[in-house]
Amino acid sequence: MRVVVGERLGGPDVLRVTEQEAPLPGPGQVVVDVAAAGVNYMDIYQREGVGNYRTEPPFVPGAEGAGTVAAVGEDVTTLAVGDRVAWAGPGSSYAEQVVLPANRVVSVPDEVSLQVAAAAILQGMTAHYLVTSTYPVREGDVAVVHAAAGGVGLLLTQMVKRRGGIVVATTSGGEKAELALGAGADHVVGYDRFRAIVDEATEGVGAHVVYDGVGKDTFDDSLAALRPRGMMVLYGASSGQAPPFDPQRLNSGGSLFLTRPTLVHYIADTTELRWRASEVFDLIAKGELEVRIGGTYPLADAARAQGDLASRRTTGKLLLLPGL
Ligand SMILES: NC(=O)c1ccc[n+]([C@@H]2O[C@H](COP(=O)([O-])OP(=O)(O)OC[C@H]3O[C@@H](n4cnc5c(N)ncnc54)[C@H](OP(=O)(O)O)[C@@H]3O)[C@@H](O)[C@H]2O)c1
Repeated sequence: MRVVVGERLGGPDVLRVTEQEAPLPGPGQVVVDVAAAGVNYMDIYQREGVGNYRTEPPFVPGAEGAGTVAAVGEDVTTLAVGDRVAWAGPGSSYAEQVVLPANRVVSVPDEVSLQVAAAAILQGMTAHYLVTSTYPVREGDVAVVHAAAGGVGLLLTQMVKRRGGIVVATTSGGEKAELALGAGADHVVGYDRFRAIVDEATEGVGAHVVYDGVGKDTFDDSLAALRPRGMMVLYGASSGQAPPFDPQRLNSGGSLFLTRPTLVHYIADTTELRWRASEVFDLIAKGELEVRIGGTYPLADAARAQGDLASRRTTGKLLLLPGL
């Protein structure tokens, strides 16, 4: 089978397609034919060897996908050959086949295509935990959503709106602004203007919550946009890591809260994983959550897909399709 291998740490050119033996499932495992693998920032961090994502090469990137069960370990009773499944977290998904722990895959309902499932599983569960658990959005809350036309951003905007929140969305403009409006954002502005819009919308009091996946470039203004006891949810770093930080800033800002959450801690428990995945897939199946696939690539173009994501040109979700 073909897999993408990171031969060493570095730029996109370290990724190569190679042939490997088809895997066999061990105890508690399944082998899945990959229909689509999601491309994520964490794959870029892994390739570059950044922080917690550093993996000793050679490695097969990819932490997300959807496909069909091809073989099950002899003790696996919950899944059968032919089942449609998706996963977020276990690695090595840039491949024609992947071996996964049976208790970390989730079923995909018939109404949801495997491409949409791969596009929604990681970022959809991320948006889900951000609005239900990290800061549970209530009716009338004012929420800033940065990079609202991105993979997480489009889903997060829709989920805040479903809970009755008011979304002040940022994008770099053009088609991205249109997409954020289409997702339901109440105000769509550039990064230089969101504080002014929050002030206007809240009579100077500030936002209840800022969902910030951009990091370095937005961190300061995001904190400044919060109302007393507001919550800063720093969930990503598409512009680079937020700088070192003096906790007194939370005091002077009005007893603010700051959290730096990660999906893995919100799906560590299998029951929680299944709850979040089934809520996301149910919304999609009912037509209440729209998933935008912004680009599809063959395995051989994994480097280009990662480059496009980092280049800021993309919208929605990028997928690798081993069948292309
Ligand atoms: N904590 C978690 O559980 C979790 C889960 C999933 C993803 N994440 C993180 O969330 C972030 C967004 O992920 P995503 O996959 O949804 O990406 P994305 O939003 O689709 O792409 C990143 C977007 O960030 C914006 N951006 C602003 N400044 C940028 C800069 N200097 N360089 C590049 N982009 C910039 C761009 O949108 P504009 O052009 O509109 O500004 C760009 O399209 C990433 O840091 C990712 O690691 C975290």
